[in-house]
Amino acid sequence: QNKHSIPIQWEFLISKLKSSVTVVDATSPEQPLIYVNEQFTALTGYTSEEVVGQNCRFLQGRDTNPETVSKIRKALNRQESIKIDILNYTKSGQQFWNELNIDPIFDDEGQCLFFVGIQYDISERKYAEEQLRRAARMAEMNSRGHLEFIGKLNHELRTPLN
Ligand code: FNR
Repeated sequence: QNKHSIPIQWEFLISKLKSSVTVVDATSPEQPLIYVNEQFTALTGYTSEEVVGQNCRFLQGRDTNPETVSKIRKALNRQESIKIDILNYTKSGQQFWNELNIDPIFDDEGQCLFFVGIQYDISERKYAEEQLRRAARMAEMNSRGHLEFIGKLNHELRTPLN
C-alpha cells in the first residue's frame, strides 16, 4: 500500500505498463499464454482473446532464424532465463525485431509454474545496425578498390613502354 493507503492492484498496473508482458503456463506441455497485457496488443496487433491458450510461436514467420527458436526451446526445457533478439511478425504481417526476455517463476517447492516474457521492439536499432554494417562493407570494398588501383598503377609505372 502507498502513502494514501490505496490497495495496489497489480493486475491493473501490469496491464498498463509500457512494456509488453506475457505470462505462460509452464505446467502445460503446450506452454500456452495465460495473460498478455495491453502493450502486447499494441506491439503485435493480437488481442488477449485471440492469443490466450496459444503458444507464443505464432509471432514467428518465414524469416525467423530457426536457431534462435531452438535456443529459446532449450532454455525453457532447462527452466533457465533467456534474453534473445528474434524476428517476429505482427498480425498484419509486418516484421519487427523483438528483444525477448523470458524468466521462469518457481514456487516454494522449486516447481516451475510460469514463464514471464517481456517484449521490446528494437527494430529501429537493428535496422540502424544493419545500415552501419552495409556502409562499413561499402567503405571496405571502396578502399580495397583503391589498393588494387594503386597496385596496377605501380605495376604499369615499372613496366617499360614498348
Ligand atoms: C515465448 N516465445 C516467444 N516467441 C516469439 O517468437 N516471440 C515472443 O514474443 C515470444 N514470447 C514468449 C514468452 C514466453 C513467456 C514464453 C515461455 C515463450 C517462445 C515460443 O513460445 C516457443 O517457446 C519457442 O518458439 C520455442 O519452442 P518451439 O516453437 O520450438 O516449440
